[in-house]
Amino acid sequence: MSDFDSDVVDPVRIDNLNQENRTFAPTPEFARQAFAQPGIYDEADQDRLAFWDKQAQRLNWTSPWSEVLDWSQAPVAKWFVGGRLNVAENCLDRHLANGLGERVAIYFEGEAGDTRAITYAQLHAEVCQAANALAALGVGELDRVAIYLPMIPEAVVAMLACARIGAVHNVIFGGFSADSLSSRINDAEAKVVITADGGFRRGKELPLKIIVDEAVKLTPTVEHVLVVQRTKSDVEWFEHDLWWHEQLAAQPAEHSAQSFDSEHPLFILYTSGTTGKPKGILHTTGGYLTQAAFTHAAVFDLNPDTDVYWCTADVGWITGHSYVVYGPLANGATQLMYEGTPDTPHRGRWWELIEKYRVSIFYTAPTALRTFMKWGDELPAGFDLSSLRVLGSVGEPINPEAWMWYREVIGHNNCPIVDTWWQTETGAIMISPLPGVAATKPGSAMRALPGIGIDVVDAEGTHVPDGVGGYLVLTEPWPSMARGIWGDPERFIETYWQRYAKQGFYFAGDGATRDLDGDLWLLGRVDDVMNVSGHRISTAEVESALVSHPRVAEAAVVGAKDDVTGQGIVAFVILRGENNVDADTIGAELRNHVGQEIGPIAKPRQIMIVQELPKTRSGKIMRRLLLDIAEGRALGDVTTLADPAVVQLIASGMTTADDA
Ligand code: WT7
Repeated sequence: MSDFDSDVVDPVRIDNLNQENRTFAPTPEFARQAFAQPGIYDEADQDRLAFWDKQAQRLNWTSPWSEVLDWSQAPVAKWFVGGRLNVAENCLDRHLANGLGERVAIYFEGEAGDTRAITYAQLHAEVCQAANALAALGVGELDRVAIYLPMIPEAVVAMLACARIGAVHNVIFGGFSADSLSSRINDAEAKVVITADGGFRRGKELPLKIIVDEAVKLTPTVEHVLVVQRTKSDVEWFEHDLWWHEQLAAQPAEHSAQSFDSEHPLFILYTSGTTGKPKGILHTTGGYLTQAAFTHAAVFDLNPDTDVYWCTADVGWITGHSYVVYGPLANGATQLMYEGTPDTPHRGRWWELIEKYRVSIFYTAPTALRTFMKWGDELPAGFDLSSLRVLGSVGEPINPEAWMWYREVIGHNNCPIVDTWWQTETGAIMISPLPGVAATKPGSAMRALPGIGIDVVDAEGTHVPDGVGGYLVLTEPWPSMARGIWGDPERFIETYWQRYAKQGFYFAGDGATRDLDGDLWLLGRVDDVMNVSGHRISTAEVESALVSHPRVAEAAVVGAKDDVTGQGIVAFVILRGENNVDADTIGAELRNHVGQEIGPIAKPRQIMIVQELPKTRSGKIMRRLLLDIAEGRALGDVTTLADPAVVQLIASGMTTADDA
């Protein structure tokens, strides 16, 4: 997750060393039927606020707004001023009213293979019971509810139940430790925690209740813990504990929802920076739902009557909020929800699920794709993936090799790929090709969505020409923008708005460049950018070059302190196939390869052949940790590691392929 508080390097020319000339246009049939047609850009350009006004009308409002945007209190926006709506009603009741009650909202597949098909009518009934149960426990408007659950339908029910009664949910990813959990509960001052006895992950039980038991010892605001029964294993029981199923069963399956102001807080979601206190990003109601729903329909070309959509993100992250819960359900989509990991019980599990449910829209992360590339093409080739028609990517720059693999091996060359750039703070997708419009380039996120203003600027905020690197900024307020950092308005301003206060730009913290066609390339976090002999080189570019070598499955690059060059490039590389290679030979080969792909300046100083890379539970490579290893420092905090053992593995088991 991003942290903008760290030092941002000052000079701004980020050398764009990427060259990509291939383009892939949608088929005429796809283009013809697409939800978003080329004219949509002009329409938005002509009148941006009228454009968003129109998108907001896709939702059901109980009172109209008087003004589309009030930016007078910048940087805290008000969208659809005075409008009133209920988010849960928009995601459920209105579909029932439209005769879609029997449509499946969620196909749930547990890791062990247990399944549920939940219709909109059933989801509505459960959400109503949960809303009544929460209200009976004294949860009211603006009260905070912490949700700490596995990827099971109850997570969706819990979120929508909060939204329905105007409570503010704070979902905490099920992989966080008791410490992280209690600090997030305390920062939000949550009154209720919703958890489960456990969840299933990689064939084992994730003991959530035990972690909650420990966390709530330190959280004075928590009055009740609601426990979903998932694994049915024994749990210790405390006075504040209540079974979810018992509380729901005692409640009627109807609940008449009240409407809330468009700016009513909907949720807080913590993003853990690499250092310091996590930031509780606050999102509100009308603008958030408008942009989540619009982008879900336009970017994925959703046809809710025929598509089966699958986003592999956990609800504990913003992608799970916007593109598992709010966007798809507001649009009346049918989606797949999967509890487990991609390798359980076998490494073809995801492809098996796509075949089984005839998934047509698939949204995942580059890190997952590169893992599958490492596992080999035979696995996806063993399943029928012909139902797929749109593929999405999110979370980090997707390197052209992974993009091409996605296109060829998963998409069989006939699915547009949408590389979607956005952040926890932006709430919804900001930059992405529209699948029926763009001729996409492997590795490029292409352009801002209609209604979104972006630019690439230098340190002073001046637009840089195409072909020159700079900082990505958002030049206009957007409906789903964060309204603040919970309890810390100053930090909100400092982190995102101070830097370009004069221009009023939002500083995204990412490096970017437009190529000579004007298409956008994200270059990674600006704090992941290296400075080698005065040349600025993106870690993402070097990684992309490395993984384009046939022997490289995955690579992570850091800029380590170097007495001569300022920083030296250190690469951690996972090889394909057998590992007992001649470290010196492969090292020299890879250095030359990078030299060829980018230029001699980008040749890594050092290449470390490793078995695993340390990743956060959200799948991001922990560069800071790699930097510690590269610079020979003692290892810091590893509590956010998906698997802490990886650090040991790396530190002890690596082969150094230094250039002699
Ligand atoms: C950061 C935000 C948005 C959901 C998941 C991550 C990076 C995200 C892309 C992309 C290049 C990307 C950026 C951004 N990022 N998507 N398509 N191409 N970079 O949310 O944890 O808030 O992280 O992820 O660096 O700033 P997040």
